[in-house]
Amino acid sequence: MRGNDFAQHGATGIQVCVIGAGYVGLTIAAGLASLGHTVICTDTSESRIRRLRLGRVPFLEEGLPDVVTEMQAMERLTFSSSNISAAADADFVFLCVPTPPKAGGAADLRHVLDVANQIGPFLKPGAVVVTKSTVPVGTGDLVAGRLSRTDIAVVANPEFLAEGTALRDFFRPDRIVIGSNSLQAANAVASLYSGLECDVIVTDIRTAELIKYASNAYLATRLSFINSLADLCEAAGADIRDVARGMGSDRRIGPAFLRPGPGWGGSCFPKDTRALIRIAADHGVDLPLVRSAVQINNDRKSAMVRRILTEIPDGHPQPTIAMWGLTYKAGTDDLRDSPAVAMVNDLLAAGAAVQVFDPTQHERIDGVVICHDMYTACQGAHVLVVATEWPQFADADLSLVRKIMAGQVVVDTRNLLNAAAVHSAGLRYRGVGVPSKVSDAARLLETVREPLAVMSS
Ligand SMILES: NC(=O)c1ccc[n+]([C@@H]2O[C@H](COP(=O)([O-])OP(=O)(O)OC[C@H]3O[C@@H](n4cnc5c(N)ncnc54)[C@H](O)[C@@H]3O)[C@@H](O)[C@H]2O)c1
Repeated sequence: MRGNDFAQHGATGIQVCVIGAGYVGLTIAAGLASLGHTVICTDTSESRIRRLRLGRVPFLEEGLPDVVTEMQAMERLTFSSSNISAAADADFVFLCVPTPPKAGGAADLRHVLDVANQIGPFLKPGAVVVTKSTVPVGTGDLVAGRLSRTDIAVVANPEFLAEGTALRDFFRPDRIVIGSNSLQAANAVASLYSGLECDVIVTDIRTAELIKYASNAYLATRLSFINSLADLCEAAGADIRDVARGMGSDRRIGPAFLRPGPGWGGSCFPKDTRALIRIAADHGVDLPLVRSAVQINNDRKSAMVRRILTEIPDGHPQPTIAMWGLTYKAGTDDLRDSPAVAMVNDLLAAGAAVQVFDPTQHERIDGVVICHDMYTACQGAHVLVVATEWPQFADADLSLVRKIMAGQVVVDTRNLLNAAAVHSAGLRYRGVGVPSKVSDAARLLETVREPLAVMSS
């Protein structure tokens, strides 16, 4: 999605302050500005604000730089490092600050509550404070307590965007959830989004807060389910791709989040599943299904590393592993809780040398060779690991890969490469949940699978 791919709206005269210029805050700020509101976005990082004023978006998010620049040029979007002065003039203040996990898994509300403390005395009468950060049930009451203002309504408006498609998700959301104890405040927040076509679910604050955790925990559970099924497919000689396709074409199930991989990661699923388990425990409720999903995921990353290590030629003193991809998924530069990073650390601990190529990563990482292209990463490698589903890996020159590698094995934790093409190049292929030997029948299937997939989509 580019800047000119969405309809621009006329000015509304509504002043919005967005606190936190991260993946969520900056997307919301740019999105609300393009819906016609006058938005000021703040961050405690002065350097981030300086760069944003120059139109430089500090992370990878498709289309966002175009919209940010365009909204700045229209004077609908400005940036500030002062929460107080930015919030003081606002009709709506969106809290988009981090809620990282504490040691026991509970969400750390420090940033959210500090901001509420800070801005409370300065808000104009009748302003609405909107919590976008993912926060535990009951946070709305805590925020209201910290604001300490009876004239200010607090609304929960959890965010469901996915990194990599954040802007598209803003303009074409599946739903907007608004939780408030004041119908007037809920309607006021809903009206900010007028122009977007989707269901608006208005409910109480606690329910809205829980909808966000329930959604993420459910998606993570689906992924753990399909990863476990992938193990069964390997043991039973079945193919997870067709199992997932067969399941996903049932309308009651649907095809999304049924692709096996090296485990789920990112800045949300790991912390939100753990936080939900803690929220439930605090209310005397056990969530064994979510606990299992987390456990399966923790085991998954070490199982992938064991798989890679078994492919290293016997007794090699310091094997070299090439790794394609480091981000937790394609389309983002976010490394938070990335399974690829966990695998790199375990491989280093096991005595391997690791050569990484990821299109978004150029900074030094301790103990790791960061390569500028995917072939350099393969130079002298005993095993090639596909860790992130960047589409360009699927188009690699596999004959060249074969020539420059010292070994011959490709461990494809994303089932991204074409197994038959890997075999044809003289390499051995190990996907997840797929037969490891390419028989003639499987080779034939490999050639028909893609056209069939196109026809059915
Ligand atoms: N990233 C996602 O895909 C996603 C999706 C939905 C919900 N969320 C939730 O949204 C929240 C924000 O996530 P994110 O990924 O955008 O985080 P982020 O780390 O990318 O951005 C947060 C920003 O807030 C700034 N900040 C911290 N304290 C501040 C303060 N007191 N005042 C002003 N700025 C401050 C930080 O400097 C940072 O730039 C979290 O609760 C997260 O769980 C994230």
